Amino acid sequence: MLFRETVESDLDNLLSCVVDESISWAHPDRLLSNLEDGQYRHDRIWIAEQDGQILARAVWWAFANSDNPLALDCIYVHPSVDDRVGLAAGLLEAAHEAFGDRPAYHVFLQNGWRDDPTASAAIAWRQEAAARAGLTQELERLRYQWTPLAPMPKPSTRVVFTEEPDDEVFVEAFRQVAQGSLDFDTRQALTRMDPVDQAREEVEGYKSMPGDRSWWRMAHTPDGRLIGFALPEANNGGPVVGYLGVVPEFRGQGYVADLLDEITRFHAERGVERILADTDTTNLPMAKAFERAGYVNFSVRLVLSAYE
Ligand SMILES: CC(C)(COP(=O)(O)OP(=O)(O)OC[C@H]1O[C@@H](n2cnc3c(N)ncnc32)[C@H](O)[C@@H]1OP(=O)(O)O)[C@@H](O)C(=O)NCCC(=O)NCCS
Repeated sequence: MLFRETVESDLDNLLSCVVDESISWAHPDRLLSNLEDGQYRHDRIWIAEQDGQILARAVWWAFANSDNPLALDCIYVHPSVDDRVGLAAGLLEAAHEAFGDRPAYHVFLQNGWRDDPTASAAIAWRQEAAARAGLTQELERLRYQWTPLAPMPKPSTRVVFTEEPDDEVFVEAFRQVAQGSLDFDTRQALTRMDPVDQAREEVEGYKSMPGDRSWWRMAHTPDGRLIGFALPEANNGGPVVGYLGVVPEFRGQGYVADLLDEITRFHAERGVERILADTDTTNLPMAKAFERAGYVNFSVRLVLSAYE
């Protein structure tokens, strides 16, 4: 069995891989369009090959300008393979070694997937393979969407929103908001990083998204005290909530709604058809805020990652 990254001449064989399970996957249209715009690259698609046939395929995603693969998008194993867990794990390990990194596996599933035997079976063997390759940590995120069918939120009467061109002001606000956060990635990052470095990394991460930096808003009380910030953003799929945060001293007063409404209004006034957002199942205040603001939970993102 040969594990290798692909080259352009593999394209026809890559397109013939079919996943017919209830799980997100790199189907031919997605493969072609993402290869075209650089979100997929041949050196980030790995195959297990025998006698010229693809027996397993793993596809990693990244923003077009990223130096490294950012997420594993798809695991496929040919139906004829008996030990699909072993083969997929071997393929992931080989690619991880070449990348010098173990990007998290992001799987999109329908709501209630645990009660659906086909969806649970589709994820079960992949999860086992991912775990063998070191992706042992599991996080479930709720996916929300807002459409113009929901009411247009009114402007806040108690929060003043302003543009802030100085990144360092956002770094300081991110640092404060990270305190006591229920967001899993933030909590994890703070166990291994200095809070200012963590905040700076967040700001850089959001700046690398396709939205416009000028969309970001600081949030203050009318007498100038910092409440937090609201970051309307976009990814390659369109407008997203991006991020918002309330500093610890203002929590528990419902400010999350003012900030989320500002983001929603910002995008809605640009005439967008849909705003997407994710939050961890454990971030209950955030999940409730989405629901109160007319966002509808339409699916689940399962993230399997390596302990850092
Ligand atoms: C999520 C967040 C914006 C909620 O803001 P908020 O304005 O305090 O939200 P609410 O006022 O609606 O709070 C509802 C309840 O949750 C509690 N709560 C809010 N944030 C909390 C936190 N981080 N930890 C524990 N409890 C929290 C509030 O105290 C309140 O409790 P109560 O009903 O008993 O009074 C805020 O916690 C935050 O900035 N967290 C860090 C950043 C983050 O997670 N952003 C979202 C990423 S998707």
